Amino acid sequence: MTNPIKGFSKLSKQGKIEWIVDQYFQDKEGAVELLQSYWHDDQKVQKLHDEFIENTVSNFYTPYGVAPNFLIDGKLYAIPFAIEESSVVAAAAKSASFWLERGGFKTTIISTTKIGHVHFMYDGDVEKLRTFIDEIKDRFYTDTASITANMQARGGGILDIKLVDKSDQLENYFQLEARFETCDSMGANFINSCLEQFAQTFTAAIADDSRFSESEKAVQIVMCILSNYTPECVVRSEVSCPIEQLTDGSGISHEEFAQKFSRAVKIAEIEPYRATTHNKGIMNGIDAVVIATGNDFRAIEAACHTYASRNGQYSSLTHCEVKDGIFRFWIDAPMALGTVGGLTTLHPMVKFSLELLGKPSAYELMSIIASSGLAQNFAALRALTTTGIQKGHMKMHLLNILNQLEATNEEKEIIVDHFKHNTVSHSAAVKKFCEVRGIKSPEEIKKA
Ligand code: MEV
Repeated sequence: MTNPIKGFSKLSKQGKIEWIVDQYFQDKEGAVELLQSYWHDDQKVQKLHDEFIENTVSNFYTPYGVAPNFLIDGKLYAIPFAIEESSVVAAAAKSASFWLERGGFKTTIISTTKIGHVHFMYDGDVEKLRTFIDEIKDRFYTDTASITANMQARGGGILDIKLVDKSDQLENYFQLEARFETCDSMGANFINSCLEQFAQTFTAAIADDSRFSESEKAVQIVMCILSNYTPECVVRSEVSCPIEQLTDGSGISHEEFAQKFSRAVKIAEIEPYRATTHNKGIMNGIDAVVIATGNDFRAIEAACHTYASRNGQYSSLTHCEVKDGIFRFWIDAPMALGTVGGLTTLHPMVKFSLELLGKPSAYELMSIIASSGLAQNFAALRALTTTGIQKGHMKMHLLNILNQLEATNEEKEIIVDHFKHNTVSHSAAVKKFCEVRGIKSPEEIKKA
């Protein structure tokens, strides 16, 4: 029977491990050994990881792969991916090579503005409030001067503050909606600090203003927080080529390929069931690079999915056009990223990723990551509309199966060679493994 614990966070790392293992594990020694085997050899690096989050007991490895040959806006990148799913890096690399010979990815930063809100309740005259907010607007800027000084020196800061009346949707609900430029930083701390100051400036000023009644002065600040929805921080990445250059190698003609491919995109535009999977594939390419560069993939995920629903129905993030013999394929994606601050200077692998990418600005990183998402979607749709997804997928999955079976390198070589000409399935892989090893079933290894 497991018992609740008080003060878990106060235990030492060893104490935490002992408690977990004692409460939840049969093989206590094995569990401790496993956790410790994932500690970094260098104690300084391990301490860094311990301090990223709370209650750290070990590290959780995710493979880190690189897809080279990404030509983006005339510059050649090798893009780092932190992801556990097989096929994603291979697909990215394949698309990158395909488009390398066709002009590469061309990107446009459509906008870079981030938005945050002071959410508050106000019960009173709306016009009076509107006039008042306009009158005190300068104070929002002066009261945040110490917070904004550095950002302004880098070319950013507060762009705009306005009152938004949402009381038709929720009684007495209003917002101070502010827009920010945060340059190379993701800007969450900066934005939240500004918003909290706006709330203080606002409540102090209204309390002092004799035009408002006592009940009007009793404004309730519900919360101050940036929005992870960033429809004004958007990048476009696109690829295009004459349709005759859409050779695929699967035997399908370039006209049929262009037609089927664009239909697949149209289906994702109108069918939410397909759009969800379609965008999931795009996020394979986006999240992995977001993680490798130390950014917040939950924020990017949340923004992309809201953006995909902005017209009232969940839809595709990518679009395709076949016109006048030209195939054009593009993505518009909201992407609030940072290349300074946060993990960027702390996590050694994040530093490595940013150096690998040539120390990009946040805007350049937006272009890189959107291109990675587009590449991923191109690879997925190309496979889906020609050979089917399972052919490539199962070949990659084969290695996972063989690793689970603890196949030796020689066994892997023979089995991978066999499946170059045979269909991969879990049972076929296990059968071939048993044949190569000369056993009847994998259970025989466990017994031995
Ligand atoms: C798998 O992780 C992603 C795909 O399902 C994406 C898609 O269907 O477009 C292959």
